[in-house]
Amino acid sequence: MFKIQTLNNIAVAGLNRLPRDRYEVASEIAHPDAILVRSANMHEIEIPSTVKAIGRAGAGVNNIPVARLTGRGVAVFNAPGANANAVKELVLAGMLLAARNIGQAWRFARELEGDDEAIHKAVEAGKKQFVGLELPGRTLGVIGLGAIGVKVANVARALGMRVIGYDPTITVQRAWQLESDVQPALSIDDLVSRADFISFHVPLTDETRHMINAERIRIMRPGAVLLNFSRDGIIDDAAAVEALDQGHLYAYVCDFPSNRLKDHPRVITLPHIGASTCEAEENCAVMVADQIRDYLETGNVLNS
Ligand code: MLT
Repeated sequence: MFKIQTLNNIAVAGLNRLPRDRYEVASEIAHPDAILVRSANMHEIEIPSTVKAIGRAGAGVNNIPVARLTGRGVAVFNAPGANANAVKELVLAGMLLAARNIGQAWRFARELEGDDEAIHKAVEAGKKQFVGLELPGRTLGVIGLGAIGVKVANVARALGMRVIGYDPTITVQRAWQLESDVQPALSIDDLVSRADFISFHVPLTDETRHMINAERIRIMRPGAVLLNFSRDGIIDDAAAVEALDQGHLYAYVCDFPSNRLKDHPRVITLPHIGASTCEAEENCAVMVADQIRDYLETGNVLNS
């Protein structure tokens, strides 16, 4: 009997991949063989010595001390691509929210009070105040051309946008062969200087932390929009806020709650819901449960 500990939010469809005649699955369990986790910070949790594998029901593994665990022989699995569609859809929503000032317009409409005439006047004022931008013909720069970045590129192309891409680890030509009609940028600087919207799809590492800083923001096109649905820390928020205040940036949409950003009129913050759809939660849970089951039973590594 294998013992699996589930630390949080693992969809039932994933748990059903672990047949109960061979697996005991519980959130508190003595001597687990494996742990399934979504967002819990495993850096702060003592991992029992019986654990042979950890499955992260998501793409990023920065909540898991991978080097420490693999050093002691624990296999770490993640679910690359399993939530890519969900994130892509939220990036698309973010792009539209920013382009059409939807957050600000919604707040404005909610605060309207008065009789029909007052409302009518306010509506006229709102129309002037919230004049937005259309997407066709504008350029989206995608940094990071993995499963999510390529999907974002494809949807932008379908909307009539130009797409340029840069990836620190794979060539744009390779990404292009894989799926998407994305033109290569020579470097991050080249990309940020040519894009109207910039979307980030890279993990947070020492190399990517503050990849977007004041210097890089300065070379961006006036009116550029930043979309960060990847990891908090990739953009230097203080530099972004300064550029928004100066009117150099048009908007900043990020999938992270932030006290510093939340009240800024040109910022939209979300509570990291990119992967929070029923479908994505199920896909991620199924993918990691299958990997863990295969690894425990056969020693095979389907993906890591
Ligand atoms: C991911 O890395 O795929 C996301 O952070 C998943 C999640 O929200 O749990």
